[in-house]
Amino acid sequence: MATSVRFHDDLQPAGPSLRDAALAGLAATPKAIAPKFFYDRRGSELFERICQQPEYYLTRTEEAILAAAANDLAGRVGQGGELVELGSGASRKVRLLLDALRPARYLAIDLSTDFLLSSTQRLAADYPWLEVSAACLDYSQGLRLPGEFTLTRPLLFFPGSSIGNFAPEQALAFLQHLHALLPAGGALLVGVDLPKDKAVLEAAYNDAAQVTKAFNLNLLERLRETLACDIDPSRFEHRAFFDEAESCIEMHLVSREPQEVTLEGRTFRFEAGESLLTERSYKYSVEGFTALGRRAGFVPAAVWTDPQRLFSVHLLRREAPGA
Ligand SMILES: C[S@@+](CC[C@H](N)C(=O)[O-])C[C@H]1O[C@@H](n2cnc3c(N)ncnc32)[C@H](O)[C@@H]1O
Repeated sequence: MATSVRFHDDLQPAGPSLRDAALAGLAATPKAIAPKFFYDRRGSELFERICQQPEYYLTRTEEAILAAAANDLAGRVGQGGELVELGSGASRKVRLLLDALRPARYLAIDLSTDFLLSSTQRLAADYPWLEVSAACLDYSQGLRLPGEFTLTRPLLFFPGSSIGNFAPEQALAFLQHLHALLPAGGALLVGVDLPKDKAVLEAAYNDAAQVTKAFNLNLLERLRETLACDIDPSRFEHRAFFDEAESCIEMHLVSREPQEVTLEGRTFRFEAGESLLTERSYKYSVEGFTALGRRAGFVPAAVWTDPQRLFSVHLLRREAPGA
């Protein structure tokens, strides 16, 4: 009976620190910082509030798809295997799968340590039959699983359209990496946002309650609070728009005026209207993502969508060589 979470604190995220990423990102042209740096505890809490906004169709649609597909999924991947969630956040969507899949073990991976711990503790309390582990790792830097977490019949779960935060060629490389990590018979369940009407997409990232704006600006609060940085979030505005040619939402923080910002002893200039790119979110058609999965070596096993075709969930399988 699970009473606590096994936290793998021997593992540490690889890759650049917030400090190094911010220094490099402010020196770059155009200025940019990866979306994974949104997620301190406040960033994770704000993301949960975004999920509740009426314009943000992604979460409720993916949840409805998962709830409807859970038994079908269990019939395809079987029960009693290992379930590994990448970017587990509140570990809420996984609850829709647990009763059907009855995995032996669940491993939650997320960069937002405090949030990861509290979310998995709540999960372990609610599912006493489940062995729950947590690891604070950066999945984008080459996924290393805890040594004793052997994958025999694993399902990797990557919800939330987070695959869209990689540019398509990076997404392919990441899918290839996950394919190589899986043993034959293992599978990946991945949530992918679909292209749709520009107004619907742009509303999702510009909610009326301005929670996405607060989430975006929180990145600057994080720089100010955790680094030697004098950036003033009130001198930036939130901008999110859909680039139809790239099938991608871009999110920016735009300087309201010419200004200089100091970070860790270095000075960076922003012109009026100059922006810091904080997120890209690529949208894929069902056919487009299926083709990407195939290119990565996966065999497409199933895809579920909602009746309005807002969102998709793909099951990709690693087959035995020669199968
Ligand atoms: C868009 S939220 C999705 C949360 C949840 N899976 C869902 O679908 O609602 C992305 C989550 O992934 C985590 N995350 C983002 N980049 C990550 C990375 N490179 N490695 C590990 N976790 C990451 C964030 O901390 C956040 O909890």
